[in-house]
Amino acid sequence: MTFDEVLPKVREILASREGLLKALDWMVVNRDLNGRISLVVPDAASADEHRQGQLEELASTLESELGPHGLAADRAILYEEDREPVLANAPHYPLDRVTVVDRLLTEGRWGAVEGATEGAKRVVFYSIKGGVGRSTALAVSAWWLAQAGSRVLVLDMDLESPGLSSTLLPETRRPAYGITDWLVEDLVGNGDAVLDDMVATSELSREGEIMVVPSHGQDPGEYVAKLGRVWMPSRNQEGGHQAWYQRLDRMITGLESQWQPDVILIDSRSGIDDIASACVTDLRAGLVLLFAHDDAQTWTGYSLLFRYWAQTQVIRHMRERLQIAGATLPDVDTETRFDELRERAWDLFSEHLYDEIPAGAQEEAYWNFDDRDEGAPHYPWAVRWHRDFTALTSLHDRLAGIDPGQVRQLFGPLAEGIQRYVSARSVANE
Ligand SMILES: Nc1ncnc2c1ncn2[C@@H]1O[C@H](COP(=O)(O)OP(=O)(O)OP(=O)(O)O)[C@@H](O)[C@H]1O
Ligand SMILES: [Mg+2]
Repeated sequence: MTFDEVLPKVREILASREGLLKALDWMVVNRDLNGRISLVVPDAASADEHRQGQLEELASTLESELGPHGLAADRAILYEEDREPVLANAPHYPLDRVTVVDRLLTEGRWGAVEGATEGAKRVVFYSIKGGVGRSTALAVSAWWLAQAGSRVLVLDMDLESPGLSSTLLPETRRPAYGITDWLVEDLVGNGDAVLDDMVATSELSREGEIMVVPSHGQDPGEYVAKLGRVWMPSRNQEGGHQAWYQRLDRMITGLESQWQPDVILIDSRSGIDDIASACVTDLRAGLVLLFAHDDAQTWTGYSLLFRYWAQTQVIRHMRERLQIAGATLPDVDTETRFDELRERAWDLFSEHLYDEIPAGAQEEAYWNFDDRDEGAPHYPWAVRWHRDFTALTSLHDRLAGIDPGQVRQLFGPLAEGIQRYVSARSVANE
């Protein structure tokens, strides 16, 4: 028995015990940090001899069937008064009639999604694979939106590999502090000491404003020591607990009220990573750009994530925020490569995200898009490769003298797509 066989086995074992499940108000399948299974049931069941006999029999079956992923029968059943505390602070999802709670040794919450903000719209630049041109596209999009008159707040959330800010700011304009400083100061209730000095405006925009929040300040200081603490939850005076992503959201809200941006662009970390999960699922972004190269690593990675969203049942909350961004299409055979990318993206979305339309049903009632529908979330907002953009160190200077026509040609679909999203009235305001 290995990890992936465990839940199907538990499901099979429980399926033949309908009577017991009906008699219990609830049951939670607890998968612990080591991947071992125990069951949590209501306290009341321990007072009923018949029920207890059934549970003991179930515990022995689990012990013998689950092998190393089971627990000794006398430790496999736990009694609790209420179900809610058992599920608190851990991903959980239904498995037929019961609920699975998954204890993970990670701060990432890929299986839970916060509602989109009603404040300035937040756009996350994410990619499953690194090095695909995400930060460059973000910097150019910020420039584009600012040229059109917007106030754009840019956050460099790629804390473990910072770099975005130097594409928008020359080193001399970098503020004294950055995101890691705020997160560490906030642990001791001192966030306000740095909040005023963690944003710099870029001189690249004449019409609107680009306001950059870097990962670290002018002098990064003890960056590694600070980074190792950003995940810490904070405790308030009443002993309440605020997770790190909630602290981060509080930081953004603070910056938002101070700087009044029209839009917030967030450069996420890539991969199935804890910072990325905060950016994608916790920071209340209404648009999450999924950068994609047409390669096996990209499609496999996104399907792993989408399968988890399906399992944890957040897919309906997530899917309407997603948009594929085509990463750096080559300058030869561009049209063909675009079509291939679009088809692969359609395969991915159809398999995991789009509703299946039953024969004879009204198509409009389902969330489903045609392969060639330009308004579909799988239809790539493509960025084109160009040699002028290959050296990121010079991007700041490149943007300083950039020709808007070239930006439109290389980044147009992406920049215009974001602009449409930003200027669309939010549902909450209608
Ligand atoms: N449109 C483009 N045309 C040509 N080269 C590009 C383009 N966009 C980005 N690049 C180059 O590709 C490399 C990676 O770009 P970038 O740093 O923006 O990617 P990233 O996805 O943010 O990477 P990371 O995952 O490391 O943060 C850089 O050298 C950059 O100059
Ligand atoms: Mg980057």
